[in-house]
Amino acid sequence: MDRDYVTINRDIWDAEAAHWVAMGAQRWALEAPIWGNWGAAEAALNLLPADLAGKDAIELGCGTGYVSGWMARRGARVTGIDISSGQLATARQLAEQHETAATFIEGNAEATGLAEASFDFAISEYGAAIWCKPDAWLREAWRLLRPGGRLVFLGNHPLVLVCSPLNGAPCDATLHRPYRDMWGGGLDPSRIRSHRGVLQSDDVGVDGSVPGHRVPRDELSRDLHSGPRNRNERQRAGRMG
Ligand SMILES: C[S@@+](CC[C@H](N)C(=O)[O-])C[C@H]1O[C@@H](n2cnc3c(N)ncnc32)[C@H](O)[C@@H]1O
Repeated sequence: MDRDYVTINRDIWDAEAAHWVAMGAQRWALEAPIWGNWGAAEAALNLLPADLAGKDAIELGCGTGYVSGWMARRGARVTGIDISSGQLATARQLAEQHETAATFIEGNAEATGLAEASFDFAISEYGAAIWCKPDAWLREAWRLLRPGGRLVFLGNHPLVLVCSPLNGAPCDATLHRPYRDMWGGGLDPSRIRSHRGVLQSDDVGVDGSVPGHRVPRDELSRDLHSGPRNRNERQRAGRMG
């Protein structure tokens, strides 16, 4: 029988959970949040509202829960939801270790079962934003938010692929492949794998790569930060608002 994608994702993340503990612990221990594949500073991006104290915040697809931890430290009442019990076990353990109050619940971010209009702020850092159906999880986030509430989410930009070395190492600040035809012509889809959310393949040819071309750091940060951020900007850009 075919299994649905949510069940498949849950089983994969349960199997993978042990490999995310170290990274989660590292992020929980940070003094200040950093974001994205290039570790852009929160001070530069301001993704978290400055006034979270006393607010209700939810992290959709919270994984090891460090973003929830960062919000709780800013005084928010935090709920983290994730489909994987393995990831949630890590989140709960790290929250306890850091003496941080946050509620971690098991569930599907596309249909949380939580009361509507019960949060002021929602965030997904590579969680629901890249694992759920956009029309389902965005509707759910909208339903959960109070009027005037704000949603922030992070996903992968094609720059991540362009800046990923051909030997499979994590992305850096060098352009390693062309933006167009970045995989080369003869890619065997069965050899594509995912590493920390970045697709990789042993078959990627060196044809057309641009070794040694560096992307200025502020350009990477600007890219991570691109897109309209407040309601007025979103409306001007014709996006959800
Ligand atoms: C790359 S992790 C991101 C989470 C967190 N930022 C971290 O790095 O630990 C992706 C998370 O999304 C969760 N996830 C995938 N599908 C989900 C769904 N339908 N509902 C809730 N969580 C989901 C996975 O279980 C996993 O913990």
